[in-house]
Amino acid sequence: MTVQGKVQFSDFDSRGYRTVDVQTGYAEWVPNYENTVEDAMDIALLEDLTEVLWPATRRAVELGCGTGRTGAWLRGNGVESIDGVDITPEMIAVAHPRGIYRHLHQADVTATGLESGVYDLVMICLVDEHLSDLQPLYAEAWRLACPGGVLVLVGYHPHFIMTAGMPTHYDRRPGEPVAIETYLHLLSEQVTAGLQAGWNLLEMKERVIDESWLALKPKWERFRHHPISVAFTWRKPNTRDNG
Ligand SMILES: C[S@@+](CC[C@H](N)C(=O)[O-])C[C@H]1O[C@@H](n2cnc3c(N)ncnc32)[C@H](O)[C@@H]1O
Repeated sequence: MTVQGKVQFSDFDSRGYRTVDVQTGYAEWVPNYENTVEDAMDIALLEDLTEVLWPATRRAVELGCGTGRTGAWLRGNGVESIDGVDITPEMIAVAHPRGIYRHLHQADVTATGLESGVYDLVMICLVDEHLSDLQPLYAEAWRLACPGGVLVLVGYHPHFIMTAGMPTHYDRRPGEPVAIETYLHLLSEQVTAGLQAGWNLLEMKERVIDESWLALKPKWERFRHHPISVAFTWRKPNTRDNG
């Protein structure tokens, strides 16, 4: 470990894949991205959340929106208007013609430049494992949310990253897997970063490898019953909640 008390992905890496940065990786992965990312990872968790009234959401922002896979789910579940932010232009180029987003911005999720305090939902799906530090992400989400607004973060579960030793990766060519820089965040880091930014935790759900997952990935039998993804719903207090 290079940071005191902070676990590093390299301590668990069992694959040793060549690693590239986020923009390089997603620019290469984009043609196959939606064929390889399983909805079981995040959409199944979104469907399990009980604290978010999706159809009552007027204005949302999705940080790390990618190709619009999760944005399409939001729209399909009644979210009226979504702005999308992503750092990889090639991912945005796929999202754009789908017409899911009101505006798409190429920016870092920790410094979006978008208007403060106007979004009643901030959504972050499968992005945080690419950030070395969670605090700026939770702080930016807080800045964007309106009072009473909700933050939903779905992430790759640290337990699975540690157990499988597997980074986020794609195949550059058949038989040539490439990792995208992956950081390990314990669940306590998520909770600490959220609380420090001022969020109240409403709910937390974990998705385990079950029969439906094994039907998709039969080789994962050894991971049966292990958690693979996690979702948090946070709420920004209304000013009247504070006194
Ligand atoms: C696994 S994809 C998730 C996309 C979408 N949310 C989904 O679930 O399909 C991760 C996305 O996060 C973006 N991303 C990663 N780090 C980022 C950063 N610091 N700022 C903005 N976007 C980032 C990548 O470009 C990529 O499009």
